[in-house]
Amino acid sequence: MENPFKFGTVVDEEYFTDRVNEVTYIRQFINSPNHLVLISPRRFGKSSVVAKALKLSGRRSITVNLQQVTSVQDLSAKILREFFKLYPLERIRHFFEHFRIVPTITSNPVSGAISVSFVPGVDSNTLLEDVMGLLEKTSTEKDRLVFVLDEFQEIKEIAPKLDKQLRSIMQDQKHINYIMLGSQESMMSEIFENKKSPFYHFGEMMRLGKLPRADFHKYLSERLSGFFPETSGQIADLILDYTSCHPYYSQQLAATIWQIKALQPDIQDVFPVAINYIVRTHGLDYERLWIKLNRTNKWILQHLASGSPLQTGEHRTSTIYSALKRLQKEGYVIYSDGYELEDPFYRQWIIETNS
Ligand SMILES: Nc1ncnc2c1ncn2[C@@H]1O[C@H](COP(=O)(O)OP(=O)(O)OP(=O)(O)O)[C@@H](O)[C@H]1O
Ligand SMILES: [Mg+2]
Repeated sequence: MENPFKFGTVVDEEYFTDRVNEVTYIRQFINSPNHLVLISPRRFGKSSVVAKALKLSGRRSITVNLQQVTSVQDLSAKILREFFKLYPLERIRHFFEHFRIVPTITSNPVSGAISVSFVPGVDSNTLLEDVMGLLEKTSTEKDRLVFVLDEFQEIKEIAPKLDKQLRSIMQDQKHINYIMLGSQESMMSEIFENKKSPFYHFGEMMRLGKLPRADFHKYLSERLSGFFPETSGQIADLILDYTSCHPYYSQQLAATIWQIKALQPDIQDVFPVAINYIVRTHGLDYERLWIKLNRTNKWILQHLASGSPLQTGEHRTSTIYSALKRLQKEGYVIYSDGYELEDPFYRQWIIETNS
């Protein structure tokens, strides 16, 4: 029997639960001429919810993850490569007549994969304008392309003024809907809510929360019931208490419980065994992360892990606040109902190694 839980990649079909309102909202939104900015901490399900909405809407779309982009030239190449997945080269060959810098396009006859390259040293701004122009030219009022830019906050890191350049190109486009995704709340707010930013009020801001407990509980217990006919509901509760309904970690824990039961059916109390297994598997990484932290950060993480108050008088409020912001930016801490450790297994590791 295949493991009914999945974590780490975009989830769809039977692995996808709830998000009904979000999917409806995104679908409606891309039918308007407006753009959407979707923010949540890492692994809350941004890519999955957008993929679901796009699939149901049947719209043409391309996705580029800015975290994987190294330069403006690379960005242009990646957009083109995505674009070729929608259109066979033969159908759009004539559009390249308008390109000021013609790319070299090669197709692997076996895998069908397309690779795109440009002559070294070309003006990358012209390149980006031409590529973005191609997207607009192949779209119409009735058939608007959806362009998803994942980890959009990275725009600031790729090249100076890239945000300004991209914004001015987008200004003239009429038939493309943009969806910008980001997992760094403060940087995304800076890009879309600071009056001085080129992307100020570019799109509607939407924040994705954790999955609603009742739906997620149903999802988990239904799938666990094959192995745990009597106790699946209880185990689902234990999982959601432990992960505070975090989509990724809940699926990870459920998948591990399922796996252990499949391999060792005689184990009675699987829940602590699964947690122990995950914490041990990541022990080395956790240790590496830990030794890189300064004392204040260690102190804060210890207190968050054990649920102790931070206002003990040991550190100034301003110190705690700025450290929390930094830890949030680096992904250790998330702000959901309050500040909490992002990874419940790291929380466990911290409690165990510091007690
Ligand atoms: N609607 C959902 N139903 C069930 N599980 C989900 C759902 N959304 C997300 N998950 C779980 O969370 C994991 C991460 O989802 P996804 O990759 O879509 O999140 P993300 O916010 O795009 O993450 P990242 O910050 O890494 O880009 C999935 O692999 C899955 O285990
Ligand atoms: Mg994602």
